[in-house]
Parts: sequence; structure tokens; C-alpha cells
Amino acid sequence: MTGTEPAAQEIDTTRPHPARVYDWFLGGKDNYPVDEELGRRIAAIDGGGAPRAALANRGFMRRTTRALAQEAGIRQFLDIGTGIPTEPNLHQIAQSVAPDARVVYVDNDPIVLAHANALLRGTAEGVTEYVQADARDPRAILEQAARVLDFGRPVALSLIALLHFVADEDGAHDLVATLVDALAPGSCLVLSTMTADFEPENVQKGIAAYAAGGVTLVARSQAEVGTFFKGLELLEPGIVSVADWRPESEPDGPISLYGAVGLKR
Ligand SMILES: C[S@@+](CC[C@H](N)C(=O)[O-])C[C@H]1O[C@@H](n2cnc3c(N)ncnc32)[C@H](O)[C@@H]1O
Repeated sequence: MTGTEPAAQEIDTTRPHPARVYDWFLGGKDNYPVDEELGRRIAAIDGGGAPRAALANRGFMRRTTRALAQEAGIRQFLDIGTGIPTEPNLHQIAQSVAPDARVVYVDNDPIVLAHANALLRGTAEGVTEYVQADARDPRAILEQAARVLDFGRPVALSLIALLHFVADEDGAHDLVATLVDALAPGSCLVLSTMTADFEPENVQKGIAAYAAGGVTLVARSQAEVGTFFKGLELLEPGIVSVADWRPESEPDGPISLYGAVGLKR
């Protein structure tokens, strides 16, 4: 594990945190009353849409990771905005296809670092590493990830349910461009991010509830999500609701997250 070890007091239990609210949506136990309170408020506003979106988003992570390991033969994964461990974690999917897969996880929330040991239990043939870093400092991430990943070979870069926490003014496009620039041909960008295209009213109410809890969220249109894939070739089916990306079962209602995978030629 690299990065700064958090003191227990760095975990602020007085304000809701995105990783912990998301953990509550997924039925996890690594959250506090403030997180549950905000989670319940949002779920009440949107009729349970946010917990459904969280589950659908995990399905998107599983299907994209499997597709990239199985069909594209990718053996290296850089997952930024990992979240609190939730089984199956990305390395478990990748290493179930390719036991020698190498995975670097990155998050900036001290609670994720506190639980990171669960992310480090991979196969003997593979490698898993956790880096405590901020996505808005992509160069630092690349430098630390390069201790485990060979950037001369294809890497699957996943920014799954991360970019709605980073506004354009905070450098969302620059961070994606810097990371994608560092990738070798054959690499892929896997991205999911919130949209108000399907349920504008509910999403706007959800954004307001997060804002009242001190968390800023950004919703992006399909065209805006497309700008992150500049210079990449979108894999089928393109930019769709995460539940519609090569689904294995019928989606359960609209999901307000776009997901897509782009290939660097
Ligand atoms: C909604 S969770 C998504 C977790 C996982 N990627 C998934 O899709 O299941 C978003 C994660 O992004 C992390 N995050 C938010 N802003 C970040 C930043 N600037 N740098 C690194 N991680 C960040 C949060 O701490 C949280 O763990």
C-alpha cells in the first residue's frame, strides 16, 4: 500500500461521505448514521433509484472488467475511485479470468484506505496494490501506479462512478486526458457517470440533497460524456445507461448513470 496512512480521526463521521453513502446503497456495513440518513433521503426522493443505480453500476464494472480481460486480453487494470470493498471486487473479476492480472486501486477517502486490505487479497500469480491519491492529481497516480503497471503495455483505466464528483472547473477533462495520454495502444477507458437525461427531476432533487450534505455532484448529458472519449474508439454499444451496456438481464427501471468503454488504437 502506498500513500499516507490515515489516523482514525481523519474519518469524519459528522458529515456524509460519497464512498460511505454508496456503501449504504449497496447494503454494506461500512457507513455511519450521517451516511445512512442522506442515503435514505435520496432513496425516498427518487423512489429507490439511487440504490438501483449503485447495483446496476457494480454490474457494469463486472461486465466491462470481464469483457476487457476475456475479449481484449488486458492484464493490467488501474481503477480510480475504487470505493469501499464490495465483493466481487474488480481484481476478483479480472483475476478469475486471468490469475496473473495486475490491479492498482486508487481512492482519496481515508475510509477506503482503512478497508484496503480486502482489496489486496488477490491471486498468488497476480498483483494488487492500493494507492491513496486524488484523481485531480493524475501525474502522482501515474507515477505510483508505474511501480506495478507497465504503461508500455495495455491498461484498462476505470473511472467508474467517479467523474460526477469532479466538476469540469475542477479539471475533469484534464485528468482524463492526462491519464489516457499515458496509456499504450490497446488500452481502454471504462467510465460511468451520472446523468439527468433520463429522470431530470429526481436527479436534480438528488443533487440538491447531496449538496445539503456538503457533497457536490455533476450530471452530464450523453454528448458531454462523449467528450471524455475524444480520440478513442467507443466499443459497442457506445454510451448507454450502465444497465444497457451488454446486459445479462432486463434492466429494472431507468438508471441515471451513463457507461461506456473506449479503445485507444
Ligand atoms: C460512488 S463510489 C464508486 C466506487 C466504485 N468505483 C464503483 O463504481 O462501485 C465513488 C468513489 O470515488 C471516490 N472519489 C471521489 N472523488 C475522488 C477523487 N477526487 N479522487 C479519488 N477518489 C475519489 C470516493 O471516495 C468513492 O470511493
